[in-house]
Amino acid sequence: MSDSSTSIGQQSRTALSQGSPAISSKKTRIAMTGATSLLGRNLLFEIFKENIHDLDRLELILLGRAKESQALRDRVREMVCEMSEMVSPDELSHILDYCAHRVIYVDSELTEPYTKIDSHSLHQLQRAPIDFFFHLAAISNFRDTPAVRELLHRTNIEGTLNTLELIRELKVGEYCYTGSAYVCGTTTGKIYPDYINLDQPFHNPYELSKLKAEILVREFGTATGVRCRIFRTSTICGRLIEPPLGGVSKYDVFYGWAAFWLRMKASVLGGWSDIYTRPCALDARICYRAAGGFNTVPVDFAAKAMYQVCLQNDPGQSYHLVNDQETPHAMHIPAMLNTVNVEGTSQCETIPVDLNETEAAYYRVLGKTFTPYMTSAPMDFDTDSIRSVLNKSRLRCPPVDAANFQILMEFAKQHDFGVEHN
Ligand SMILES: NC(=O)c1ccc[n+]([C@@H]2O[C@H](COP(=O)([O-])OP(=O)(O)OC[C@H]3O[C@@H](n4cnc5c(N)ncnc54)[C@H](OP(=O)(O)O)[C@@H]3O)[C@@H](O)[C@H]2O)c1
Repeated sequence: MSDSSTSIGQQSRTALSQGSPAISSKKTRIAMTGATSLLGRNLLFEIFKENIHDLDRLELILLGRAKESQALRDRVREMVCEMSEMVSPDELSHILDYCAHRVIYVDSELTEPYTKIDSHSLHQLQRAPIDFFFHLAAISNFRDTPAVRELLHRTNIEGTLNTLELIRELKVGEYCYTGSAYVCGTTTGKIYPDYINLDQPFHNPYELSKLKAEILVREFGTATGVRCRIFRTSTICGRLIEPPLGGVSKYDVFYGWAAFWLRMKASVLGGWSDIYTRPCALDARICYRAAGGFNTVPVDFAAKAMYQVCLQNDPGQSYHLVNDQETPHAMHIPAMLNTVNVEGTSQCETIPVDLNETEAAYYRVLGKTFTPYMTSAPMDFDTDSIRSVLNKSRLRCPPVDAANFQILMEFAKQHDFGVEHN
């Protein structure tokens, strides 16, 4: 267990013993959508770690779905095994036992109204007040096609509305919504975590869907008096506090960028054998702002920070879960190409017009999606609202500098950046 997590544990116990209003009941009841997500599972791990010596006091209700004929309960069990390096073997078996016998699993499809939830599960949800209801489930798809727009609308906007309709039927202390720092669209410069402007260009329909859902949450809070918190995270990367370092459950955003070059390389080399040791020259001019960077936040930091805000009963509403330091493009782009051992690329400040075959393949989808981010002026996400929570818990966001970025790359490399191949 890391030093920082020990101090967080002490802090939360202090907060609990001080009996803040939201957590003063004998048992803490926590409900969550999206527990199987990258962020959700790390929040779940954090909740288990924080309550490891007092699981009897914790009542956990997970709303989610079965996948590929694996029940939600079994999916969670498999996921929790990822904690094997974070806790002792005894603690892990205690948590697994808790998951098997104590966690309440609610089969729930986000796109359907809460009335589709079976009556027994609904009764479980209604039985007693829920201290924290975390809504994390969402679709993160940056493409702009009619089908994707429709899915984003149904899942991110209507899905959020469905959870709000559900909590109207429950007693909920706090509703915590996970938004995106990029709901600021193409705005640059200083950005506050309650900045809302629908009247501006967005990079993609995903950003807009997250903003529209967030507005629904804010309106709901105002209309009902239920405390609603908004957590806007920047691009989430692998763990940099809890072991295994670099740990991540999916390979999208910048991992997906590296995966593109790995796939391209495999196709040029005609296979995957010695894929990392065999260099491959690919003639491509990659457009990014050499002086720019991007904001990426380690998933374990984001989960800890979010949970701490709730445990400390912070009076605020809107928070950025972001890194204090940008990761320079001039560092991470060559580092990704180096990890997949691709040579021969160069940087350019605007998309070339005379594209060769490799460049055409790149700019057709991936470059089209990511170039606007990679050429953006700096976005300075304000973190004042979360500063005191972080200070109290002695929690600091690990910088994603060259050394830490290499840790992320090593983990991803061990999993071939999520690319399935024979
Ligand atoms: N990842 C990032 O870089 C990033 C950045 C900013 C904000 N966020 C926000 O943070 C939250 C978590 O993101 P993530 O990247 O960790 O998520 P993720 O790994 O992509 O997982 C998505 C989650 O949503 C659930 N879900 C999707 N559609 C559903 C449906 N129709 N019914 C029920 N559940 C559904 C998935 O369940 P299944 O496992 O059953 O599919 C999964 O638990 C999201 O709200 C996202 O918008 C993420």
